[in-house]
Amino acid sequence: MARAMKVAIVDDEQDMRQSISQWLALSGFDTETYSSAEDALKSIGADWPGVVVSDIKMPGMDGMAFLKKLMSLDSGLPVIMITGHGDVPMAVEAMRVGAYDFLEKPFNPDRMTELAKRASQSRRMTLDNRALRRELADGSTIMKKLIGTSPAMERLREDILDLGQADGHVLIDGETGTGKTLVAHALHAVGPRAGKKFVVLSCAAFAEDMLATRLFGPMDEGGQIPLVEDARGGTLVLEDIEALSQPLQARLLTFINDQGTPAETRIVGICNDHEQGRTVEDALRPDLYYRLAALKITLPPLRARGEDILTLFTRLGEQFADEYGCDAPQVTAQEAAQLLQAPWPGNVRQLINVAERAVLQNRRGSGSIASLLMSENEEAGPTITTEGKPLKDYVESFEKMLIDNTMRRHKGSITAVMDELCLPRRTLNEKMAKYGLQRSDYL
Ligand SMILES: Nc1ncnc2c1ncn2[C@@H]1O[C@H](COP(=O)(O)OP(=O)(O)OP(=O)(O)O)[C@@H](O)[C@H]1O
Ligand SMILES: [Mg+2]
Repeated sequence: MARAMKVAIVDDEQDMRQSISQWLALSGFDTETYSSAEDALKSIGADWPGVVVSDIKMPGMDGMAFLKKLMSLDSGLPVIMITGHGDVPMAVEAMRVGAYDFLEKPFNPDRMTELAKRASQSRRMTLDNRALRRELADGSTIMKKLIGTSPAMERLREDILDLGQADGHVLIDGETGTGKTLVAHALHAVGPRAGKKFVVLSCAAFAEDMLATRLFGPMDEGGQIPLVEDARGGTLVLEDIEALSQPLQARLLTFINDQGTPAETRIVGICNDHEQGRTVEDALRPDLYYRLAALKITLPPLRARGEDILTLFTRLGEQFADEYGCDAPQVTAQEAAQLLQAPWPGNVRQLINVAERAVLQNRRGSGSIASLLMSENEEAGPTITTEGKPLKDYVESFEKMLIDNTMRRHKGSITAVMDELCLPRRTLNEKMAKYGLQRSDYL
């Protein structure tokens, strides 16, 4: 979801304030006006989602003092200063203090719009990067992103925590969309390198020569640092590692062997096993394979995760419903069976897609989950997996989903859930224990 960027306009002259505000509002900005720096500072602080346009000459706190104050609150905040005509020394001083740019009065409104656009793009990038860095520095945030309570998922969580701490090189494999890249992030975030560099490169995205230079150098004309250097102290993720040529595999092995323990740069290799029958073990030279695969995580395909399909679908449905401001789709028993039986060749990524479309359908009040699944899998062949599951699995998955949803809706009130599902307390407790559902998660 693209957030609307704000522009705060700070000027003691009302006419000036209004005309800048109207002009920028016409260009699609969400504008706010303030008649003094003191007033503006009541609303603007670190991580403020927008850019500031301020006059320099103001009674009370002047533009320079305001700029200095803003820079101390958030040095990445773009501030555009408006200076008097010919006031070059002031403009230079403003830039030195950290202004994003300045406009000399009288200015061309188009130039103002253009500057505001560039400044908000830069702001958006700064904020996104900060959010990502915080996420990477805080393992618990990213672990919370991992949805699912199946035994496979619980094992995965433990593996991430163990291997994240162990801090050796890791190999991750699994079908497309199973969460390999997400797990690579999580490994970094829960380990001792959290907050250090996290660099990702796809080995399939570049031709051999280019890949060699990007990885090992020498530094190119654009001043691009070789990634093995760039990631020093942190994690280097090599996606599609199976695409590495033999000579590059040899260089990577040398690089790994030349490092001490603990390694300066942690390598996480990701392998996409899309080609049936060809494993990462076949694709990599054995010595490299064994260096990486000492710690290995294999992500199960979604169709093998049973009940997680329903948990993911309802949880993601709620998230999208929240985003679109409508109700989450209610899954009937028949739809649950269809979700559980679909082959999901695109795994979690495909499920996210289907959940989003189900929410949009729900908002329009048309369509069914069944028809979505049909259209999804048209090219992929059969809509039903050939891997049959016992009836017991369907029943249990559905039961778990119902209890999970009901607990969520009643924010963990056991009595309300007992009432709605007509279950005695003891049975409800037993079922929750059986399905690994904890009341504390819903409060
Ligand atoms: N257990 C999970 N809970 C919630 N979201 C998940 C889970 N696993 C994966 N996802 C989400 O599914 C999407 C696909 O995951 P990701 O990109 O990590 O898959 P991948 O295996 O790296 O795919 P590819 O092979 O195509 O690179 C992402 O949006 C990710 O956040
Ligand atoms: Mg990936």
